[in-house]
Amino acid sequence: MKSKVVVVGSYNTDLTIKTERIPRPGETIIGGVFSEGGGGKGANQAVAAARAGANVSFIARVGNDALGNLGVQRLTDEGINTNFIYKDNDSATGVAFIVVDERGENSIVVASGANAKLSSADIDEAHDEISSADVLLVQLESPIDAIYSAIRKAHSKGAMVILNPAPAQSLSSKILNDIDVITPNKVEAEMITGIKASDEESLRAIAQKFFESGVKIVIITLGSKGMFVGSTEGMKLIPAYKVCPVDSTGAGDIFSGALAAFLAEGISMEIAVKMAAASASISVTRLGAQRSAPNRKEIEDFLMNYSSSQAEVIG
Ligand code: ATP
Ligand code: RIB
Repeated sequence: MKSKVVVVGSYNTDLTIKTERIPRPGETIIGGVFSEGGGGKGANQAVAAARAGANVSFIARVGNDALGNLGVQRLTDEGINTNFIYKDNDSATGVAFIVVDERGENSIVVASGANAKLSSADIDEAHDEISSADVLLVQLESPIDAIYSAIRKAHSKGAMVILNPAPAQSLSSKILNDIDVITPNKVEAEMITGIKASDEESLRAIAQKFFESGVKIVIITLGSKGMFVGSTEGMKLIPAYKVCPVDSTGAGDIFSGALAAFLAEGISMEIAVKMAAASASISVTRLGAQRSAPNRKEIEDFLMNYSSSQAEVIG
C-alpha cells in the first residue's frame, strides 16, 4: 500500500508574467508572457508529494467560485483526495500575482481570500484523515490556529510532522516542540531564529537553536547552493544539482512535498533529501508552480542521468 501524506495549507490561482526583469515601484514594463496555473504553498506541496508517489489528502479552503472549482478539479486530476477542501461562500479563492525575471527569480503578492478562513473546526472535521497519516506536511500560508490543531492531532497519533515555515513568522516553542522536520529557506531560518545565516558556522547555530526548541531535523534550503541538513547524528551541506533555471517559483514547495513523500515511504533522510532536491531542481527548469513538479520516473531518470554525467566529468 502507498504511504499516506496529509497536507494542510493554501490553494491559490497563480497569475504569472515572465518578463525581462521585475519592475521598480511606479514602473510599467511592456513585454512578457502570461500564464495561469495552480499554486499556493499547500497545494504545490500536495501535488509534488502525489507526483513523487505518495497517497495524498489535501485539507484547505477555496472560494465557492470558478477558480475554486478549477483548483479542486486540478488536484482531483492528480489523484489527490479533495474531500476536505471546503468551499467558502463569503471569500474568493486565493490568488497570487507573480512576476518572473529572465534569471528565474520572482516577486509574488498574494490575496489569501478563502485560505485565511481555514479554521480549527475544519481541521476537527478532518480528524480521521489526519489521524491515519504517515506524514503531516504544513506551511504558514494558512491561519496558525488551524495549522497548530493539525500538528497536535498528527503528533499525538505518532505521525511524522514536517513544517515548511513559509512565509516566515515567529513560532512559539509549543509549536516547534511537536515538529519532527523543519524546512525553512535561508531567509525564513534567519527570521525565525534571529541568527544571520552568513556561513556554515551560523547555519549550525540556527540548527542548534531549532533543536533546543524540540525540532528533531533541520533542513535549510539554500537555492542553487543546496541544503544544510542537521540532526542529532550530525550536520552537513549537500550541494544542489546544476541546472539552467527558468522559474524558481515553488522550488521550496516541490522540495518539501517530495521530501514528505519519500520520508513517508521510509527512505533514509539523506537519500530522501537528495531525491527531493532532484525534484526541486527539475522544477526550476520549468515555468509555473504545481505544473513544474516532476513525477517519480522523471526524478529517478534525472538522478541516474545526473550521476552518469558527473562520472563523465570526473573521469
Ligand atoms: P521559492 O520561494 O522560490 O519557492 P525557496 O526559497 O523556498 O523557493 P530554495 O532554497 O530557493 O527554496 O530552493 C529549494 C531547493 O530547490 C534548493 O534546496 C535546491 O535543491 C533547489 N533549487 C532551487 N533553486 C535552484 C537552482 N537555481 N538550481 C538548482 N537547484 C535549485
Ligand atoms: O511558494 C510559491 C507559492 O507562493 C506560489 O504558488 C504562490 O501561490 C504563493 O503562495
